[in-house]
Amino acid sequence: MAVTSKSISLRSRINSPDNCFVGGLLHDVGKVILAQYFPHLFAQVWSTLQEECCSFQEAEKRLLPTPHTLLGAHLAAKWQLPQGLVDAIRWHHEHQSQAANADFILIIYLANIIVNSFNADPDCIIDLGALHPDARKLLMSRLENVGDWYADIAGEIEAAQSFFLEAG
Ligand SMILES: [Fe+2]
Repeated sequence: MAVTSKSISLRSRINSPDNCFVGGLLHDVGKVILAQYFPHLFAQVWSTLQEECCSFQEAEKRLLPTPHTLLGAHLAAKWQLPQGLVDAIRWHHEHQSQAANADFILIIYLANIIVNSFNADPDCIIDLGALHPDARKLLMSRLENVGDWYADIAGEIEAAQSFFLEAG
């Protein structure tokens, strides 16, 4: 997700690639908190999404009082991370075109969709109709042939994964 966010920033020349890398790295920090401090609830969400083939957000909406986006944003604010990061964590599933950090949120939102689409299908077929209009516009105007360039960054993604797995 971090490599994809950085790559979208570079290709679209929107926001800073380094900012976007960090945003991609931290966007789901709310899930980490859930898994760490509420493992029973996290396991329930995980088994529900697998049994019912629904998204994490759909499962958490039914089972949790607070979505992982809000939990993550709250933590990021408490850590006094920059407001752009707080907003990107908060809105990475619901792009906010009127937000002060809309361009940053857009990159993280779109990267999340691309990564999830690629994980579901290596041909990376994206449901354009389900995208926020700003993301659709960006994808169609500056990020055409996602499947091609996404495949190009596969090596970089693997290297980043190895780094974090080995570091742990
Ligand atoms: Fe998420």
